Amino acid sequence: MQDTLFPLLAALGGYLIGSLSFAVIVSRAMGLSDPRSYGSGNPGATNVLRSGNKAAAILTLVFDALKGYVPVLLVGLFGARWGLGEGTAALVGLGAFLGHLWPLFFRFEGGKGVATAAGVILALNPLLGLATLATWLIIAYFSRYSSLAALTAACFAPFYEMLIWGTGPIVGVLLLMALLLVWRHEANIKKLLNGTESKIGQKAAAAA
Ligand code: G3P
Repeated sequence: MQDTLFPLLAALGGYLIGSLSFAVIVSRAMGLSDPRSYGSGNPGATNVLRSGNKAAAILTLVFDALKGYVPVLLVGLFGARWGLGEGTAALVGLGAFLGHLWPLFFRFEGGKGVATAAGVILALNPLLGLATLATWLIIAYFSRYSSLAALTAACFAPFYEMLIWGTGPIVGVLLLMALLLVWRHEANIKKLLNGTESKIGQKAAAAA
């Protein structure tokens, strides 16, 4: 019974932590407008940057990544005592990612999951995390599109994992996160295709 219960409880813990929408929390704490009211309307670091406040964007990025990183790390450090292994760590990461997309504390209106996925991947497999971050950086550097960089990095991550480390629960979670992330970027993909996607750091208009 506890073979199922403990992993599910751990995943629920990940979901609750993931439900902390730091774009909104940080913006409120710093007296800024709600990021859901301008730019892309997305509660994420890229959109907070459109407010013109770099510190708020960096804090959002760091905390949204940490809420994916820390729960997975905790399972890795202490999970063995309760028989929790890699599968549970992957499930907890998925929980945090789902919390970001559908946050319990913010009427289930969440973000696109990029920073949280990065935190999850870094904790699940640090080398894979670095390879995924490097992919994001290269695409972002050359294109200046945060969304294109995120889409490319998220889609490459499961293949890196599969090709270098083999299949397992991590691959399953990476594939699911990539699918959800692409789905959440539907509006960005349309804008990329018709040339209206805004570039990194471009200031915001009211939410579309
Ligand atoms: O981190 C999310 C990014 O990929 C796109 O954000 O605000 O441009 O829709 P945004």
